Amino acid sequence: MSASSIAVSGPLLAWYGRHARVLPWRNPPGGPLPDPYRVWLSEVMLQQTTLAAVIPYFEKFTSRWPTVGEIAAADEADVMAAWAGLGYYARARNLLACARAVAASGGQFPDSEEGLRQLPGLGAYTAAAVAAIAFGRRAVVVDANVERVVARLFAIAEPLPASRKAIREAAGTITPEQRAGDFAQAMMDLGARVCTVREPTCLVCPIAADCRAKALGEPERFPAKPPKKPKPVRRGRAYWIERNGHVLLVRRPGKGMLGGMRALPDDGWNARGDGSGQPPLSGQWQSAGTVQHVFTHFALELQMLVSCGAECSDRLGEHGEWWPVAQLEQAGLPTLFAKAARLVMAQREDDG
Ligand code: ADE
Repeated sequence: MSASSIAVSGPLLAWYGRHARVLPWRNPPGGPLPDPYRVWLSEVMLQQTTLAAVIPYFEKFTSRWPTVGEIAAADEADVMAAWAGLGYYARARNLLACARAVAASGGQFPDSEEGLRQLPGLGAYTAAAVAAIAFGRRAVVVDANVERVVARLFAIAEPLPASRKAIREAAGTITPEQRAGDFAQAMMDLGARVCTVREPTCLVCPIAADCRAKALGEPERFPAKPPKKPKPVRRGRAYWIERNGHVLLVRRPGKGMLGGMRALPDDGWNARGDGSGQPPLSGQWQSAGTVQHVFTHFALELQMLVSCGAECSDRLGEHGEWWPVAQLEQAGLPTLFAKAARLVMAQREDDG
């Protein structure tokens, strides 16, 4: 039997009524539509980030900035620092640009997918998700969980990413006119809880009777994956320069990796580890070890070099700020540099 809108959405929405995850940006299934600001914020945070990681940040942001107008009026540096640790920092800059655009046009989010799409930094996925969840519009919302559920339901054999278009079209055929937001979130919850990447529990799946991958006997084979290429490795160096209990921090340029964030000074990470990266001051350096960090498109091995007693002129401070080492946790360092700082601290403890 082919999966049709009625066959899938009826049982799925009934299942969602009993099993919806309780999340701080949601209202109960079938309830009033949730606050668009909270829906939008959650969707931006959830891109590329797990639910468990997002929830405390969502609570922190909405306590500090309860409305889109309040976050629009915030200092960029405060928003960036509050975002520290969530990763993909371009999202935080786009978030602010979007909030400011909404505030500038009266403080209300547009209530359609097309209107939302006009906002800065708001991509097709987020526009569809906010239109459906916050405004009850029929929109086809496809995130990674939904992609997996649909690929299985229709047994789409073509590997990702080439199958993305076919998956989207198939998702369109099962999206109902009513309760599209609940439907989207039901698909997400089904993907997260039942139709999992490994060992899906088809026995408790409300739409198993319509699932072609299950009928074929190997649901885990879908979505088909292309062979994985290893990520390229970049090597770089970061520098720990300390005087009088303060460490030198810099602000990274607005554009590029970790743009706008506070950081330890570094060599730009392009050094091939062959000594071509120049330290910010001359003198003796001691290695505190190497931090490994995986970004979307490459893995980074960042060697930490600690300055030992070189002449530290006052002019160095013009390039950044001297931050108290004892309060480094409040600096809002992104994870890479927080790890690097911990490495230096750990070595200091080892050295007694
Ligand atoms: N992932 C992205 N958006 C989500 C939502 N609204 N609920 C659960 N998981 C999500």
